[in-house]
Amino acid sequence: MTAIVVQDLRVSRGGTEVLKGISFSVDPGSVYALLGGNGAGKSTTLLTLLGFLTPDSGSASVLDNDVTQCVSRVRQQIAYLPEAATLYPHLNAYENLEYFLDLAGRKTTQLELDQALDEVGLQLESRSRHMEDYSKGMRQKVAISLAILRETPVLLLDEPTSGLDPVAIDEFNALVRNLAGLGKSILMVTHDVYGACQVANRIGLLRRGQLVGSFDAPAGERIETDRVHATFAERATA
Ligand SMILES: Nc1ncnc2c1ncn2[C@@H]1O[C@H](COP(=O)(O)OP(=O)(O)OP(=O)(O)O)[C@@H](O)[C@H]1O
Ligand SMILES: [Mg+2]
Repeated sequence: MTAIVVQDLRVSRGGTEVLKGISFSVDPGSVYALLGGNGAGKSTTLLTLLGFLTPDSGSASVLDNDVTQCVSRVRQQIAYLPEAATLYPHLNAYENLEYFLDLAGRKTTQLELDQALDEVGLQLESRSRHMEDYSKGMRQKVAISLAILRETPVLLLDEPTSGLDPVAIDEFNALVRNLAGLGKSILMVTHDVYGACQVANRIGLLRRGQLVGSFDAPAGERIETDRVHATFAERATA
């Protein structure tokens, strides 16, 4: 079963067609990076998969469930990291995680919370502090750990490394590879060519609502950054 299938998807926002017939699929246990500039339609693609936007035509499915017909089943399979993840500033990291996991119907132990926060590299002494005192990168780490703790088969990540420093980005990329190795299917949207090449099995280049290029990682290797960057830059000025 393919994890995500998008076929000739067209989506309009505010009367303008934003996605102009895109098709791609994400294999189980793989990372697909949707790469594109500002306004290309990356977030729109994720919001459509989550059932927040209705396609004009075409289709999208998650684990064989159509996203317009089986909205709640689709959402149960997905952990979504939004572009600007908002957690509660007056709660600490543990309290935020417990609260949002409880809403998702998932009970966790303190050990599980600490393991997830270890994985994303949030310092132990910060975890009991209110998140209003956190830096952007620290907030992002808690949001990422929340997505992991949901334990869903599919992850949708919107600009997950934005606000992280280079070391944290490398750690995050390793974490994403690890999650794919555990069988998770990951769709990540980004405008970071380097990061996409580090983690993705396949990259789709999105330009003004159209997929204009696709790159596959050779078995056991990474996608070549220079090649993707050249195409990205060339298309961006076309
Ligand atoms: N709520 C909205 N109403 C109308 N148009 C919108 C809305 N949100 C986004 N758009 C338009 O849809 C297009 C695609 O936006 P989208 O947010 O999907 O881009 P993106 O690729 O995620 O960009 P970024 O890298 O800046 O996050 C843009 O032209 C944007 O102006
Ligand atoms: Mg976006």
